[in-house]
Amino acid sequence: MHVLEKAKKPLNALKDSVVDINAVNFWLQKFNPLWSGNQALGKIVQKENAANEMVSLTIQVNRLFKFGLAGQHHPVFITVNGIRYERTYSLTKLDDRHVLLTVKKVNAGIVSTWLVEQAQVEDIIEFGQPFGEMTLAQAPSPLLLLAAGSGITPMLSMLKSLSQTKQFSEQPIQLMYWVKYHVDAAFKARFEELAHQYPNFKFQIFFTQEADADPRLDATHAVQIENIAASTVYACGPSGFVAQAETLFGHAQCFMNEAFSMSPVADDEIGFVNITLTQSNKTVSIPKGQSILASLEQQNIKPNHGCRMGICNKCACNKVEGSTKSLVNGSQNTEPGNLLKICVNSAQSDLVIDL
Ligand code: FES
Repeated sequence: MHVLEKAKKPLNALKDSVVDINAVNFWLQKFNPLWSGNQALGKIVQKENAANEMVSLTIQVNRLFKFGLAGQHHPVFITVNGIRYERTYSLTKLDDRHVLLTVKKVNAGIVSTWLVEQAQVEDIIEFGQPFGEMTLAQAPSPLLLLAAGSGITPMLSMLKSLSQTKQFSEQPIQLMYWVKYHVDAAFKARFEELAHQYPNFKFQIFFTQEADADPRLDATHAVQIENIAASTVYACGPSGFVAQAETLFGHAQCFMNEAFSMSPVADDEIGFVNITLTQSNKTVSIPKGQSILASLEQQNIKPNHGCRMGICNKCACNKVEGSTKSLVNGSQNTEPGNLLKICVNSAQSDLVIDL
């Protein structure tokens, strides 16, 4: 039996008693950096380039790590220059002790830059509980996977999971993947190999900024897909890509999507609106058209949040009144008394929210 398991009961007793769990973790990690009384930890055991400014980290996880379903995301906690940051990434389960974390460096992204440029083998990363609704459907149906840029990571996770079932060879599966340049393509050889191995798996890749540029996702791609109405469609990429996917494939039997960036502020969204926070009894002025969460943070108000992508629900609060707009698909909501994810919505009018 593993030493940590042997120590489990005494540890639990310690947790409930006078000993600070942080002190317990401190001493456990003197023996093994993956041991902890309460933290899901992982150790980087391999670092590889996946594409331009994109790395794949193979991570050995401890026994407190909870594997999510393929396609879900995990909070990832990193401390850079003494400040602890939380970000959200989709992981691929490799086996019962290892996951793959693939990260693309984003402009001014503190965590992604650290992971791509500075993270090293043996570094320890902390994880939270998995979340997200873009997971594999139970009932088999033709699958269409649409990915742009880093949106390929949940697709890799779902394909890896599916490839271990007999469903993989029994249903049509099509992966369409858009990147700017050849150097941006991640896992291309792996997908080509799958297509070679399984006649029912079709893989297409599009390069939108090469000299001989392929078109972005449009109606010409939609007409290539047979029987959309009976298919399950997954889309992941920047908000414009996801919104276009919804326009073209929203009538599928099942359409699921996730966006990892937000629409730019529209030209007519100028000026400020007042937002009243009922629980903290404050009214502040924020710019129209920008993420409510980011706008409040600029005012030194720190609402609870996690993914900043509209997936984890940690920032959701009740909207009492006012008009908001989704920064993912542009839809407006003027209804009072509904749940508002402040990370992916902007204010269109004065707002009152329970925060
Ligand atoms: S922070 Fe995750 S949904 Fe808003």
